Amino acid sequence: MDKIRIIGGAPLQGTIPISGAKNAALPLMCASLLTDETLHLSNMPYLADIVTMANLLAQHGVALSFSPQAKGRSMSLAAANVHNLTAPYELVRTMRASVLVLGPLLARFGAAKVSLPGGCAIGARPIDMHLKALADMGAQIDLRDGYIHAKVAGRLKGAAIQFEKVSVGATENLLMAASLAEGVTVIGNAAREPEVCDLAHCLQKMGARIEGIGTGEIRVTGVDTLHGCDYAVIADRIETGTFAAAAAITGGDVELLGARADLMQATIAAFAEAGVEISETPRGLRVCRDGRISGTDIMTQPYPGFPTDMQAQMMALLSLADGASMVTETIFENRYMHVPELMRMGTKIVLHGASAMIRGVPELRGAEVMATDLRASVSLVIAALAAKGETIIHRIYHLDRGYERLEEKLAGCGANIERITSRQSVKVEAA
Ligand code: UD1
Repeated sequence: MDKIRIIGGAPLQGTIPISGAKNAALPLMCASLLTDETLHLSNMPYLADIVTMANLLAQHGVALSFSPQAKGRSMSLAAANVHNLTAPYELVRTMRASVLVLGPLLARFGAAKVSLPGGCAIGARPIDMHLKALADMGAQIDLRDGYIHAKVAGRLKGAAIQFEKVSVGATENLLMAASLAEGVTVIGNAAREPEVCDLAHCLQKMGARIEGIGTGEIRVTGVDTLHGCDYAVIADRIETGTFAAAAAITGGDVELLGARADLMQATIAAFAEAGVEISETPRGLRVCRDGRISGTDIMTQPYPGFPTDMQAQMMALLSLADGASMVTETIFENRYMHVPELMRMGTKIVLHGASAMIRGVPELRGAEVMATDLRASVSLVIAALAAKGETIIHRIYHLDRGYERLEEKLAGCGANIERITSRQSVKVEAA
Protein backbone atom coordinates (compact mmCIF):
# COMPACT_ATOMS: atom_id res chain seq x y z
CA MET A 1 0.00 0.00 0.00
CA ASP A 2 1.23 3.51 -0.85
CA LYS A 3 2.45 5.88 1.84
CA ILE A 4 3.24 9.58 1.95
CA ARG A 5 6.45 10.93 3.38
CA ILE A 6 6.65 14.55 4.48
CA ILE A 7 9.51 16.54 5.98
CA GLY A 8 7.87 19.47 7.67
CA GLY A 9 8.94 23.06 8.05
CA ALA A 10 8.84 24.60 4.57
CA PRO A 11 6.42 27.56 4.30
CA LEU A 12 4.16 27.04 1.26
CA GLN A 13 4.61 29.73 -1.39
CA GLY A 14 3.06 29.86 -4.85
CA THR A 15 -0.18 28.95 -6.58
CA ILE A 16 -2.45 25.91 -6.34
CA PRO A 17 -5.25 25.20 -8.81
CA ILE A 18 -8.54 24.22 -7.16
CA SER A 19 -10.41 21.34 -8.79
CA GLY A 20 -14.13 20.88 -9.36
CA ALA A 21 -16.03 19.82 -6.23
CA LYS A 22 -16.20 16.06 -5.68
CA ASN A 23 -19.43 16.38 -3.70
CA ALA A 24 -21.06 18.33 -6.52
CA ALA A 25 -19.72 16.10 -9.31
CA LEU A 26 -21.03 12.83 -7.82
CA PRO A 27 -24.74 13.81 -7.70
CA LEU A 28 -24.42 15.57 -11.06
CA MET A 29 -23.23 12.31 -12.59
CA CYS A 30 -26.32 10.56 -11.14
CA ALA A 31 -28.57 13.22 -12.69
CA SER A 32 -27.60 11.78 -16.10
CA LEU A 33 -29.91 8.83 -15.27
CA LEU A 34 -32.92 11.17 -15.53
CA THR A 35 -32.75 11.63 -19.30
CA ASP A 36 -32.06 9.69 -22.49
CA GLU A 37 -30.10 12.67 -23.82
CA THR A 38 -26.41 13.32 -23.13
CA LEU A 39 -25.25 15.32 -20.11
CA HIS A 40 -21.89 17.06 -20.62
CA LEU A 41 -20.12 17.95 -17.36
CA SER A 42 -16.99 20.12 -17.34
CA ASN A 43 -14.50 21.06 -14.59
CA MET A 44 -14.73 17.45 -13.37
CA PRO A 45 -12.20 16.40 -10.73
CA TYR A 46 -10.23 13.23 -11.46
CA LEU A 47 -10.56 11.16 -8.27
CA ALA A 48 -11.08 7.58 -7.14
CA ASP A 49 -14.69 8.36 -6.10
CA ILE A 50 -15.44 9.74 -9.57
CA VAL A 51 -14.09 6.53 -11.13
CA THR A 52 -16.23 4.44 -8.74
CA MET A 53 -19.34 6.42 -9.69
CA ALA A 54 -18.46 6.07 -13.39
CA ASN A 55 -18.18 2.28 -12.94
CA LEU A 56 -21.51 2.18 -11.11
CA LEU A 57 -23.29 4.16 -13.83
CA ALA A 58 -21.61 2.14 -16.60
CA GLN A 59 -22.94 -1.10 -15.15
CA HIS A 60 -26.45 0.42 -15.18
CA GLY A 61 -25.92 0.97 -18.94
CA VAL A 62 -24.82 4.63 -19.03
CA ALA A 63 -22.36 5.34 -21.88
CA LEU A 64 -19.56 7.49 -20.48
CA SER A 65 -16.57 9.26 -21.89
CA PHE A 66 -14.10 11.19 -19.75
CA SER A 67 -11.08 13.23 -20.82
CA PRO A 68 -9.37 14.06 -17.52
CA GLN A 69 -6.23 15.30 -19.24
CA ALA A 70 -8.04 17.63 -21.67
CA LYS A 71 -8.53 21.30 -20.86
CA GLY A 72 -12.03 21.67 -19.43
CA ARG A 73 -11.95 18.20 -17.83
CA SER A 74 -15.15 17.08 -19.51
CA MET A 75 -17.26 13.99 -18.99
CA SER A 76 -20.21 12.95 -21.17
CA LEU A 77 -22.88 10.65 -19.79
CA ALA A 78 -25.65 9.19 -21.94
CA ALA A 79 -28.33 7.10 -20.23
CA ALA A 80 -30.33 6.20 -23.37
CA ASN A 81 -29.84 2.46 -22.87
CA VAL A 82 -30.14 1.72 -19.16
CA HIS A 83 -30.53 -2.06 -18.89
CA ASN A 84 -29.80 -2.79 -15.24
CA LEU A 85 -31.54 -1.17 -12.26
CA THR A 86 -29.33 -2.78 -9.58
CA ALA A 87 -26.55 -0.95 -7.71
CA PRO A 88 -24.46 -3.83 -6.33
CA TYR A 89 -22.91 -4.15 -2.89
CA GLU A 90 -19.30 -4.21 -4.19
CA LEU A 91 -19.63 -0.65 -5.50
CA VAL A 92 -22.02 0.89 -2.94
CA ARG A 93 -19.97 -0.31 0.03
CA THR A 94 -16.89 1.57 -1.19
CA MET A 95 -18.76 4.82 -1.68
CA ARG A 96 -21.88 5.91 0.14
CA ALA A 97 -22.82 8.51 -2.48
CA SER A 98 -23.79 5.53 -4.70
CA VAL A 99 -27.17 5.67 -2.98
CA LEU A 100 -27.86 8.78 -5.11
CA VAL A 101 -28.80 6.54 -8.05
CA LEU A 102 -31.93 5.47 -6.15
CA GLY A 103 -34.06 8.61 -6.71
CA PRO A 104 -33.32 9.02 -10.43
CA LEU A 105 -33.69 5.29 -11.28
CA LEU A 106 -37.00 5.09 -9.46
CA ALA A 107 -38.34 8.31 -10.99
CA ARG A 108 -37.45 7.40 -14.59
CA PHE A 109 -37.82 3.60 -14.66
CA GLY A 110 -40.26 2.94 -11.78
CA ALA A 111 -37.93 0.53 -10.00
CA ALA A 112 -34.46 0.24 -8.46
CA LYS A 113 -32.50 -2.21 -6.33
CA VAL A 114 -29.69 -0.53 -4.41
CA SER A 115 -27.42 -2.11 -1.83
CA LEU A 116 -27.65 -0.63 1.65
CA PRO A 117 -24.45 1.38 2.19
CA GLY A 118 -23.62 -0.23 5.52
CA GLY A 119 -21.39 1.21 8.23
CA CYS A 120 -18.97 4.01 7.69
CA ALA A 121 -15.87 5.14 9.50
CA ILE A 122 -17.39 8.46 10.57
CA GLY A 123 -20.59 7.14 12.08
CA ALA A 124 -23.75 5.15 11.41
CA ARG A 125 -24.90 7.45 8.58
CA PRO A 126 -28.34 5.95 7.97
CA ILE A 127 -30.45 6.61 4.85
CA ASP A 128 -33.86 6.40 6.54
CA MET A 129 -34.78 9.94 5.46
CA HIS A 130 -34.13 9.16 1.77
CA LEU A 131 -36.36 6.08 1.99
CA LYS A 132 -39.21 7.66 3.95
CA ALA A 133 -39.41 10.61 1.55
CA LEU A 134 -39.53 8.33 -1.50
CA ALA A 135 -42.24 6.25 0.23
CA ASP A 136 -44.21 9.48 0.84
CA MET A 137 -44.04 9.99 -2.94
CA GLY A 138 -45.74 6.65 -3.52
CA ALA A 139 -42.77 4.26 -3.75
CA GLN A 140 -43.02 0.82 -2.22
CA ILE A 141 -39.78 0.17 -0.38
CA ASP A 142 -38.67 -3.19 1.02
CA LEU A 143 -35.38 -3.93 2.72
CA ARG A 144 -34.29 -7.52 1.97
CA ASP A 145 -30.94 -9.33 1.71
CA GLY A 146 -29.00 -6.12 2.35
CA TYR A 147 -30.73 -4.34 -0.54
CA ILE A 148 -33.32 -1.60 -0.91
CA HIS A 149 -35.98 -2.90 -3.31
CA ALA A 150 -37.96 0.12 -4.52
CA LYS A 151 -40.78 0.30 -7.04
CA VAL A 152 -43.66 2.52 -7.95
CA ALA A 153 -46.78 1.87 -9.99
CA GLY A 154 -46.81 4.59 -12.65
CA ARG A 155 -44.95 7.77 -11.65
CA LEU A 156 -43.83 9.06 -8.28
CA LYS A 157 -46.33 11.58 -6.90
CA GLY A 158 -45.40 15.03 -5.61
CA ALA A 159 -45.63 15.31 -1.83
CA ALA A 160 -44.89 17.66 1.07
CA ILE A 161 -41.73 16.31 2.69
CA GLN A 162 -40.44 17.68 5.98
CA PHE A 163 -36.97 16.37 6.77
CA GLU A 164 -36.34 15.92 10.50
CA LYS A 165 -32.72 17.00 10.05
CA VAL A 166 -30.71 18.58 7.29
CA SER A 167 -29.32 15.96 4.94
CA VAL A 168 -27.29 16.75 1.83
CA GLY A 169 -27.80 13.32 0.27
CA ALA A 170 -31.52 13.03 1.07
CA THR A 171 -32.18 16.51 -0.39
CA GLU A 172 -30.26 15.55 -3.55
CA ASN A 173 -32.04 12.20 -3.99
CA LEU A 174 -35.39 13.94 -3.54
CA LEU A 175 -34.57 16.80 -5.91
CA MET A 176 -33.80 14.29 -8.66
CA ALA A 177 -36.84 12.11 -7.94
CA ALA A 178 -39.22 15.09 -7.70
CA SER A 179 -38.02 16.57 -11.00
CA LEU A 180 -39.69 13.70 -12.90
CA ALA A 181 -42.62 13.12 -10.49
CA GLU A 182 -46.25 13.95 -11.14
CA GLY A 183 -47.23 17.20 -9.41
CA VAL A 184 -45.53 19.42 -6.87
CA THR A 185 -43.02 18.33 -4.21
CA VAL A 186 -42.12 20.67 -1.38
CA ILE A 187 -38.91 19.77 0.46
CA GLY A 188 -38.89 21.31 3.94
CA ASN A 189 -35.69 21.63 6.01
CA ALA A 190 -33.77 21.14 2.75
CA ALA A 191 -29.96 21.24 2.69
CA ARG A 192 -28.56 24.57 1.40
CA GLU A 193 -25.01 23.38 0.66
CA PRO A 194 -23.49 24.86 -2.54
CA GLU A 195 -23.21 21.33 -3.96
CA VAL A 196 -26.99 20.84 -3.54
CA CYS A 197 -27.54 24.18 -5.32
CA ASP A 198 -25.17 23.08 -8.09
CA LEU A 199 -27.28 19.96 -8.67
CA ALA A 200 -30.51 22.02 -8.65
CA HIS A 201 -29.07 24.49 -11.17
CA CYS A 202 -28.02 21.66 -13.49
CA LEU A 203 -31.49 20.07 -13.18
CA GLN A 204 -33.02 23.43 -14.12
CA LYS A 205 -30.79 23.51 -17.20
CA MET A 206 -32.09 20.01 -18.01
CA GLY A 207 -35.65 21.34 -17.93
CA ALA A 208 -36.64 20.81 -14.28
CA ARG A 209 -38.90 23.36 -12.57
CA ILE A 210 -37.33 24.18 -9.20
CA GLU A 211 -37.86 27.18 -6.93
CA GLY A 212 -36.24 28.10 -3.63
CA ILE A 213 -32.72 26.87 -4.47
CA GLY A 214 -30.36 27.71 -1.61
CA THR A 215 -33.21 28.11 0.89
CA GLY A 216 -34.58 25.69 3.48
CA GLU A 217 -37.73 25.11 1.41
CA ILE A 218 -37.43 23.88 -2.17
CA ARG A 219 -40.44 23.53 -4.44
CA VAL A 220 -40.22 21.19 -7.43
CA THR A 221 -42.94 20.94 -10.06
CA GLY A 222 -42.45 17.62 -11.83
CA VAL A 223 -42.11 17.49 -15.62
CA ASP A 224 -42.65 14.56 -18.03
CA THR A 225 -39.11 14.46 -19.42
CA LEU A 226 -35.75 16.13 -18.95
CA HIS A 227 -33.12 16.78 -21.60
CA GLY A 228 -29.33 16.90 -21.82
CA CYS A 229 -27.23 20.02 -21.20
CA ASP A 230 -23.70 21.34 -20.68
CA TYR A 231 -22.84 22.11 -17.07
CA ALA A 232 -19.63 23.19 -15.27
CA VAL A 233 -19.03 21.81 -11.75
CA ILE A 234 -18.40 24.45 -9.03
CA ALA A 235 -15.00 24.84 -7.36
CA ASP A 236 -14.30 22.56 -4.41
CA ARG A 237 -14.75 24.64 -1.25
CA ILE A 238 -13.39 21.84 0.96
CA GLU A 239 -10.25 21.41 -1.14
CA THR A 240 -9.88 25.20 -0.98
CA GLY A 241 -10.18 25.20 2.82
CA THR A 242 -7.77 22.29 3.08
CA PHE A 243 -5.03 24.09 1.13
CA ALA A 244 -5.77 27.27 3.09
CA ALA A 245 -5.10 25.32 6.30
CA ALA A 246 -1.90 23.90 4.78
CA ALA A 247 -0.66 27.36 3.78
CA ALA A 248 -1.63 28.79 7.17
CA ILE A 249 0.00 26.13 9.33
CA THR A 250 3.33 26.58 7.53
CA GLY A 251 3.18 30.38 7.77
CA GLY A 252 3.03 30.51 3.98
CA ASP A 253 1.52 32.69 1.28
CA VAL A 254 -0.45 30.90 -1.41
CA GLU A 255 -2.93 31.84 -4.13
CA LEU A 256 -5.71 29.29 -4.67
CA LEU A 257 -6.72 29.55 -8.32
CA GLY A 258 -10.43 29.29 -9.06
CA ALA A 259 -11.37 29.29 -5.34
CA ARG A 260 -14.61 31.07 -4.43
CA ALA A 261 -15.01 33.04 -1.21
CA ASP A 262 -18.81 33.21 -1.55
CA LEU A 263 -19.09 29.43 -1.02
CA MET A 264 -17.16 29.39 2.26
CA GLN A 265 -17.91 32.41 4.42
CA ALA A 266 -18.02 30.48 7.71
CA THR A 267 -14.68 28.81 6.95
CA ILE A 268 -13.09 32.15 6.05
CA ALA A 269 -14.45 33.68 9.27
CA ALA A 270 -12.93 30.84 11.32
CA PHE A 271 -9.55 31.31 9.61
CA ALA A 272 -9.73 35.07 10.27
CA GLU A 273 -10.35 34.43 13.97
CA ALA A 274 -7.36 32.12 14.03
CA GLY A 275 -5.20 34.92 12.56
CA VAL A 276 -5.10 33.73 8.95
CA GLU A 277 -5.63 36.32 6.25
CA ILE A 278 -7.77 35.30 3.28
CA SER A 279 -8.45 37.83 0.54
CA GLU A 280 -10.00 37.69 -2.91
CA THR A 281 -7.79 38.12 -5.96
CA PRO A 282 -8.83 38.31 -9.64
CA ARG A 283 -7.87 34.61 -9.95
CA GLY A 284 -9.20 33.19 -6.70
CA LEU A 285 -8.16 33.56 -3.06
CA ARG A 286 -4.89 34.48 -1.39
CA VAL A 287 -4.10 32.88 1.96
CA CYS A 288 -1.26 34.04 4.19
CA ARG A 289 -0.20 34.08 7.80
CA ASP A 290 2.76 35.82 9.34
CA GLY A 291 1.63 36.27 12.95
CA ARG A 292 0.83 33.63 15.57
CA ILE A 293 -2.16 31.31 15.26
CA SER A 294 -4.87 32.27 17.76
CA GLY A 295 -7.01 29.72 19.57
CA THR A 296 -10.61 29.83 18.38
CA ASP A 297 -13.86 27.90 18.91
CA ILE A 298 -15.64 26.08 16.13
CA MET A 299 -18.94 24.25 15.87
CA THR A 300 -19.80 22.25 12.76
CA GLN A 301 -23.22 22.91 11.31
CA PRO A 302 -25.14 22.47 8.06
CA TYR A 303 -24.43 25.18 5.47
CA PRO A 304 -24.03 28.14 5.85
CA GLY A 305 -22.42 27.01 9.14
CA PHE A 306 -18.87 25.73 9.50
CA PRO A 307 -18.59 22.47 7.47
CA THR A 308 -17.95 19.14 9.15
CA ASP A 309 -15.68 18.32 6.20
CA MET A 310 -13.26 21.07 7.38
CA GLN A 311 -13.26 20.10 11.06
CA ALA A 312 -10.21 17.81 11.03
CA GLN A 313 -8.08 20.22 8.97
CA MET A 314 -8.93 23.14 11.27
CA MET A 315 -8.06 21.03 14.29
CA ALA A 316 -4.60 20.38 12.87
CA LEU A 317 -4.08 24.14 12.45
CA LEU A 318 -5.38 24.97 15.94
CA SER A 319 -3.03 22.45 17.52
CA LEU A 320 -0.26 25.06 17.06
CA ALA A 321 -2.34 28.00 18.32
CA ASP A 322 -1.57 30.32 21.18
CA GLY A 323 -4.08 29.25 23.82
CA ALA A 324 -6.95 26.80 23.77
CA SER A 325 -9.68 26.05 21.21
CA MET A 326 -12.94 24.17 21.52
CA VAL A 327 -14.20 22.20 18.52
CA THR A 328 -17.72 20.76 18.59
CA GLU A 329 -18.93 18.28 15.99
CA THR A 330 -22.72 18.28 15.57
CA ILE A 331 -23.17 16.42 12.25
CA PHE A 332 -21.46 13.05 12.70
CA GLU A 333 -21.11 11.20 15.98
CA ASN A 334 -17.74 9.60 15.38
CA ARG A 335 -15.66 12.10 13.54
CA TYR A 336 -12.58 12.38 15.75
CA MET A 337 -10.54 9.48 14.45
CA HIS A 338 -7.73 11.86 13.51
CA VAL A 339 -7.29 12.83 17.16
CA PRO A 340 -5.22 9.84 18.38
CA GLU A 341 -3.06 10.14 15.26
CA LEU A 342 -2.55 13.90 15.70
CA MET A 343 -1.59 13.20 19.30
CA ARG A 344 1.19 10.94 18.05
CA MET A 345 2.62 14.09 16.54
CA GLY A 346 2.51 16.00 19.82
CA THR A 347 -0.88 17.73 19.79
CA LYS A 348 -2.68 18.14 23.10
CA ILE A 349 -6.35 17.28 22.65
CA VAL A 350 -8.94 16.12 25.16
CA LEU A 351 -12.14 14.60 23.80
CA HIS A 352 -15.37 14.86 25.69
CA GLY A 353 -18.42 13.58 23.82
CA ALA A 354 -18.97 15.69 20.73
CA SER A 355 -16.38 18.28 21.78
CA ALA A 356 -12.63 18.46 21.62
CA MET A 357 -10.51 20.78 23.72
CA ILE A 358 -7.22 21.60 21.99
CA ARG A 359 -4.40 23.19 23.93
CA GLY A 360 -1.96 24.78 21.54
CA VAL A 361 1.62 23.48 21.63
CA PRO A 362 4.73 25.33 20.38
CA GLU A 363 5.72 22.60 17.91
CA LEU A 364 4.67 19.28 16.39
CA ARG A 365 7.01 16.37 15.76
CA GLY A 366 6.95 14.00 12.78
CA ALA A 367 5.75 10.43 13.43
CA GLU A 368 4.33 7.37 11.68
CA VAL A 369 0.57 7.83 11.49
CA MET A 370 -2.36 6.16 9.83
CA ALA A 371 -5.15 7.66 7.76
CA THR A 372 -8.70 6.60 8.66
CA ASP A 373 -11.01 8.59 6.40
CA LEU A 374 -10.69 11.25 3.77
CA ARG A 375 -10.65 14.43 5.85
CA ALA A 376 -8.89 12.79 8.81
CA SER A 377 -6.09 11.75 6.44
CA VAL A 378 -5.57 15.19 5.07
CA SER A 379 -5.47 16.69 8.57
CA LEU A 380 -2.40 14.48 9.15
CA VAL A 381 -0.82 15.86 5.97
CA ILE A 382 -1.46 19.41 7.22
CA ALA A 383 0.06 18.69 10.64
CA ALA A 384 3.05 16.98 9.00
CA LEU A 385 3.77 20.02 6.82
CA ALA A 386 4.49 22.01 9.98
CA ALA A 387 5.99 19.22 12.10
CA LYS A 388 9.68 18.94 12.89
CA GLY A 389 11.27 16.02 11.03
CA GLU A 390 9.75 13.21 9.04
CA THR A 391 6.15 11.98 9.02
CA ILE A 392 5.04 8.83 7.23
CA ILE A 393 1.31 8.57 6.57
CA HIS A 394 -0.04 5.08 5.94
CA ARG A 395 -3.26 4.02 4.20
CA ILE A 396 -3.40 7.03 1.96
CA TYR A 397 -5.95 5.51 -0.43
CA HIS A 398 -8.47 7.61 1.48
CA LEU A 399 -6.74 10.74 0.19
CA ASP A 400 -7.05 9.59 -3.41
CA ARG A 401 -10.82 9.44 -3.03
CA GLY A 402 -11.08 13.19 -2.59
CA TYR A 403 -7.84 15.02 -3.39
CA GLU A 404 -6.51 15.24 -6.89
CA ARG A 405 -2.70 15.26 -7.29
CA LEU A 406 -2.33 16.30 -3.65
CA GLU A 407 1.44 15.74 -3.43
CA GLU A 408 2.03 17.48 -6.75
CA LYS A 409 -0.03 20.53 -5.75
CA LEU A 410 1.76 20.83 -2.38
CA ALA A 411 5.23 20.10 -3.78
CA GLY A 412 4.62 22.83 -6.39
CA CYS A 413 4.51 25.30 -3.49
CA GLY A 414 7.69 24.07 -1.88
CA ALA A 415 6.46 21.28 0.40
CA ASN A 416 8.87 18.42 0.96
CA ILE A 417 6.41 15.62 0.20
CA GLU A 418 6.60 12.38 -1.74
CA ARG A 419 4.48 9.32 -2.36
CA ILE A 420 6.19 6.03 -1.70
CA THR A 421 4.50 3.43 -3.88
CA SER A 422 4.38 -0.20 -2.73
CA ARG A 423 6.76 -1.21 -5.50
CA GLN A 424 9.31 1.41 -4.49
CA SER A 425 9.14 0.40 -0.85
CA VAL A 426 9.73 -3.26 -1.74
CA LYS A 427 12.83 -2.13 -3.66
CA VAL A 428 14.07 -0.18 -0.67
CA GLU A 429 13.62 -3.17 1.61
CA ALA A 430 15.39 -5.53 -0.82
CA ALA A 431 18.44 -3.25 -1.19
C1 UD1 B 1 -22.59 14.69 2.48
C2 UD1 B 1 -21.17 14.81 1.97
C3 UD1 B 1 -20.18 14.64 3.13
C4 UD1 B 1 -20.51 15.64 4.24
C5 UD1 B 1 -21.97 15.54 4.65
C6 UD1 B 1 -22.39 16.60 5.63
C7 UD1 B 1 -21.32 13.98 -0.29
C8 UD1 B 1 -21.00 12.91 -1.26
N1 UD1 B 1 -20.94 13.78 0.98
O1 UD1 B 1 -22.75 13.37 3.00
O2 UD1 B 1 -18.87 14.88 2.62
O3 UD1 B 1 -19.71 15.36 5.37
O4 UD1 B 1 -22.82 15.67 3.48
O5 UD1 B 1 -22.15 17.87 5.12
O6 UD1 B 1 -21.88 15.00 -0.64
N2 UD1 B 1 -28.82 11.29 8.26
C9 UD1 B 1 -29.83 10.51 8.81
N3 UD1 B 1 -30.69 9.89 7.95
C10 UD1 B 1 -30.62 10.00 6.60
C11 UD1 B 1 -29.58 10.80 6.06
C12 UD1 B 1 -28.70 11.43 6.92
O7 UD1 B 1 -29.94 10.39 10.03
O8 UD1 B 1 -31.43 9.42 5.87
C13 UD1 B 1 -27.86 11.99 9.17
C14 UD1 B 1 -26.41 11.52 9.00
O9 UD1 B 1 -26.15 10.37 9.75
C15 UD1 B 1 -25.66 12.74 9.53
C16 UD1 B 1 -26.54 13.91 9.06
O10 UD1 B 1 -27.83 13.35 8.81
O11 UD1 B 1 -25.63 12.72 10.91
C17 UD1 B 1 -26.04 14.59 7.80
O12 UD1 B 1 -25.76 13.64 6.80
P1 UD1 B 1 -25.91 13.94 5.25
O13 UD1 B 1 -26.01 15.43 5.05
O14 UD1 B 1 -26.97 13.10 4.68
O15 UD1 B 1 -24.51 13.45 4.69
P2 UD1 B 1 -24.20 12.79 3.31
O16 UD1 B 1 -25.15 13.29 2.27
O17 UD1 B 1 -24.02 11.34 3.46
